[in-house]
Amino acid sequence: MKRMLSGIKPTGRLHLGNYIGAISQFKQYQDEYEMFIFIANEHALTVPIEAKELRKNTKDLIALYLACGLDPEKMTLFLQSDVPAHVQLGWIMTCLSYMGELQRMTQYKDKTAKGETGITAGLFTYPPLMAADILLYDPDYVPVGQDQKQHVELTRTLAERFNHRYSDTFKVPEPLTSKVGQKIYSLQEPEKKMSKSEKDSKGTIDLLDDPALARKKIMSAKTDSVGIIQYDPINQPGLANLLTIQSVLSNEPIESIVKRYEGKGYGELKKEIGQTVYDFLSDLQAKYKEIIASNQVEEVLKQGAEKASRIANKKIAKVYRKVGLSI
Ligand code: TYM
Repeated sequence: MKRMLSGIKPTGRLHLGNYIGAISQFKQYQDEYEMFIFIANEHALTVPIEAKELRKNTKDLIALYLACGLDPEKMTLFLQSDVPAHVQLGWIMTCLSYMGELQRMTQYKDKTAKGETGITAGLFTYPPLMAADILLYDPDYVPVGQDQKQHVELTRTLAERFNHRYSDTFKVPEPLTSKVGQKIYSLQEPEKKMSKSEKDSKGTIDLLDDPALARKKIMSAKTDSVGIIQYDPINQPGLANLLTIQSVLSNEPIESIVKRYEGKGYGELKKEIGQTVYDFLSDLQAKYKEIIASNQVEEVLKQGAEKASRIANKKIAKVYRKVGLSI
């Protein structure tokens, strides 16, 4: 069975973009692959975050993952900080990376270009830590949204560099971005991705949003003045985004939705999508509440840490021997 690994930062509440871009795919993959999903809590420290908030986000994330249908019997779910080998290999990957390479990473570049202050060294060296997260487990595939593809490319470069310098050690992984719904955009600024850090919360639907509020956000989503329901992401990005959301949540191909709405208006379509989102969130949140009230999260993490550590510890021991850290 091919192996797959992916991660998510617990830096805010999960939103529909995360669900559609990542979690909904994971649910399918867990039946077809040996799957590892981890919470990248060490990456969360690259920007200031209160301990209390980090703890709550982490627990919420696991509970939401479970509520979304990830099944710890089929896959391994763990916390990055429970497996110290991530940071250990992270340092080695940092030492393999060139400044120029890291300066080209868009997340860092964008922030610097905007003249943001308070950019930490951690934010700069976060891609090599991400490479370590991946390479410890020798996955065949790394499913990520489009925005993370560049980091997986760097991971491939670092794996090849290490293998070349010290002999074959790491599998060179492939990024995996799906076709439908690989990127969900802000409901208010459809040229920007839906993001947890977006200031205008009308643009983002959180998985823990009140379902009635989420429906309102869909109803007031920005569209266009073309007035024809068709899938045209270039000229009608807002509408295309809504069609993608409906398609993924209801499992109906976009062409079929477009056909049903021939000659109809945006308002009607939004009403259906609003209801789809309302039902989806209501169901998800009921499951989430049940999980949070039990001790499932703690149990799943304990089991996950044991399994992940077995693999990661073996790998880091091998790496330490190869680079000369263990004598
Ligand atoms: P993060 O936490 O920003 O996002 C988690 C996953 O969700 C995807 N995503 C989206 N997909 C579609 N539309 C959107 N609007 C959207 N927003 C986010 C992201 O591409 C990602 O797949 N660096 C990573 C976390 C990480 C990681 C790893 C991932 C750390 N180590 C190792 C894979 C493997 C991050 O910040 O993702």
